Amino acid sequence: MLTGGALLHGVVGVSGAKNAALPILCASLLTPDPLALTNVPDLRDVATARRLLEKMGVTAEADPARHALTLQARTLTGHTASYDLVKTMRASILVLGPLVARFGEAVVSLPGGCAIGVRPVDQHIKALEAMGAAISIAHGYIHATASRLKGARILFDMVTVTGTENVMMAATLADGVTVLENAAREPEVTDLAHCLNAMGAKITGAGTAEIRIEGVASLHGAAHRIMPDRIETGTFLAAVAAAGGDVLVRDADPATLVAVIDKLVEAGATIDVAADSLRIRRQGPLRSVNVRTAPYPGFPTDMQAQLLAVNAIAQGTAVVTETIFENRMMHVQELQRLGANIELEGNVAIVKGVLRLTGAAVMATDLRASACLVIAGLVAEGETVIDRIYHLDRGYERIESKLSALGASIRRAA
Ligand code: EPU
Repeated sequence: MLTGGALLHGVVGVSGAKNAALPILCASLLTPDPLALTNVPDLRDVATARRLLEKMGVTAEADPARHALTLQARTLTGHTASYDLVKTMRASILVLGPLVARFGEAVVSLPGGCAIGVRPVDQHIKALEAMGAAISIAHGYIHATASRLKGARILFDMVTVTGTENVMMAATLADGVTVLENAAREPEVTDLAHCLNAMGAKITGAGTAEIRIEGVASLHGAAHRIMPDRIETGTFLAAVAAAGGDVLVRDADPATLVAVIDKLVEAGATIDVAADSLRIRRQGPLRSVNVRTAPYPGFPTDMQAQLLAVNAIAQGTAVVTETIFENRMMHVQELQRLGANIELEGNVAIVKGVLRLTGAAVMATDLRASACLVIAGLVAEGETVIDRIYHLDRGYERIESKLSALGASIRRAA
């Protein structure tokens, strides 16, 4: 529940990145030794990933006060990721590569559709087959077996983040060299590669479109600190751009946010970038900015909804184009309930800025759509009530306490 109108002031800290933590938790399957992680965000998706691993026999020791989690896959009691967990979190597919690579066997539920689009996993499967895995699909499950995976040259048909991560993990234990072409360049892929290299893997090129992995016989334990969440960072920046004020966002990695920073500056925010923090101010008028999502280093699809909220109250008309997912504009209807003037043509939203939004009851449809509604609620006149906030808890750690510490009127209704 939010009451709009307050300027945001103060300091807010960024948590560890959800989309780096999820593959890195799954990387624990690649070694019998402990993998000691820090800066692990306290999120529903991370809890789901942990449960998924524990169900297979991975032991987990958490120190929540330190955001630390140590995982150990000494032996496994099963190799199955069942539908009940996979359907709640598509990233569960990330156990496929590690399981086949180390144990020669994996049974993973097909994720099926999700709110933001169809999202098939054909690229994951094609690549593992090219590496010698025998894969069949029956009763909604992917069954994969391999005695030992072999290095291969793999050209992805499209840029896929978890596809790149899954195959990169599998290739660490393969016989020979694997080269991934048209690989995802997202910083989370690079963070995973750093963790895998600390475990003894031989990966070069992560962060570029060509990643080379020289397989090794085994990996060992390691300690790794999860990178800061660039989308949470960007969400705070968008919130301040929309609501106005002066905020220091710390524990961040500004280098991973260039496209987002550029857009918010174009929209009228002043942003001072330091090594691991950003100060954002917005006092003057907000101007419309066109946005077109693209794989990294382009503008992230995970920030599209938040920029739509900013544009909703900016001066002028903006064209916001979603190119990654086919159904990621569901927040448009909810923003319209708050008084936004948006025309939707397929995956293109034409946003005519209005002077003010007005609070209403709205419904969150997916994680980033929820963030968009929070930002809209921060500026809407009167009260905005967001239903289905479990979507928010999947990817934002205590967002209501972080924002209320900045002066926002926001609370979690029972
Ligand atoms: N695709 C295929 N076949 C495949 C894989 C992908 O057709 O085998 C298509 C998808 O349908 C989509 C496009 O390729 O149209 C890109 O999908 P990608 O595989 O990159 O998405 P993902 O790996 O499933 C990750 C993030 C998403 C983020 C996207 C794009 C994680 C756990 N998830 O998803 O994060 O939007 O990359 O950057 O890393 C979020 O955090 O809210 C979120 C949805």
